[in-house]
Amino acid sequence: MRRERSYIDYLEYSKWSELEPSDYELGVAMPPYAHDGFEKKESGLPLPDPLAFRPRLPEFLPLARSRRSSRSHGGFPLGLAELSFILYCADGIHEVKPDKRTKRTVPSAGCRHSFDLFVIANDIEKVERGIYRYDAYANMLFLSDRTDPDFGARLEEACVKQSFVGLSGAVIAISCKRHRTEWLYGRRSWRYLFMESGHISQMIALASTAVGYGSCAVGAFDDDRLHDLLGLPADSDVLSLSTVGRP
Ligand SMILES: Cc1cc2nc3c(=O)[nH]c(=O)nc-3n(C[C@H](O)[C@H](O)[C@H](O)COP(=O)(O)O)c2cc1C
Repeated sequence: MRRERSYIDYLEYSKWSELEPSDYELGVAMPPYAHDGFEKKESGLPLPDPLAFRPRLPEFLPLARSRRSSRSHGGFPLGLAELSFILYCADGIHEVKPDKRTKRTVPSAGCRHSFDLFVIANDIEKVERGIYRYDAYANMLFLSDRTDPDFGARLEEACVKQSFVGLSGAVIAISCKRHRTEWLYGRRSWRYLFMESGHISQMIALASTAVGYGSCAVGAFDDDRLHDLLGLPADSDVLSLSTVGRP
């Protein structure tokens, strides 16, 4: 355990380029999936059939159950209305409180909402190819001055040659400005930021499912290359990517 390391150090030494072989790569046996050592058959409490339950919002279960990682992104272009819906579900603002806190679909520790979404637009109707920042306040996309005609290929390269990433109609980068949360919670923030990027990622997946598109979270990427490709400032860290495409 290297408990003394800071968040920045952690981001540094967990970079794709810094990884050491995992236990899997070293041939160590796989840990069991199921919890072991706790269950005693005679004291187990059988749960009611969850599928027999009728929730107040019955659409929720089929949506949640039909989410699957989809990597075969074929049909183009993506619809702009669908993309807008997905971004709104992921991090859009429903309400701005008088003290400027914002209410969104995703929870955020201390309501800090420290994330920025960047859209790498490969093939979206009525949208020039490029890298955009999603402005949740204005419900707008702002084109970055990064112009690279070959950014699909560079993106694929940055995502350790995962070809489906470069072929997706859009890729959404979930990037945090850590200081927005650190300001309130100090180094406890780092746990929250990882959790919160997961919330956003899951909302992208569910919203994509709801519009009939597919999506896939992508955690395998070369951090420095991606940072450079997106042209992000030094205090922004991409914690996750999500591809979006027509299945
Ligand atoms: C944090 C995270 C990172 C992931 N990174 C990748 C990735 O780099 N490439 C990929 O093809 N899938 C990636 N996945 C998708 C998983 O492989 C997928 O969720 C898993 O196989 C279970 O399948 P399902 O999502 O269809 O239920 C990632 C998922 C998560 C949650």
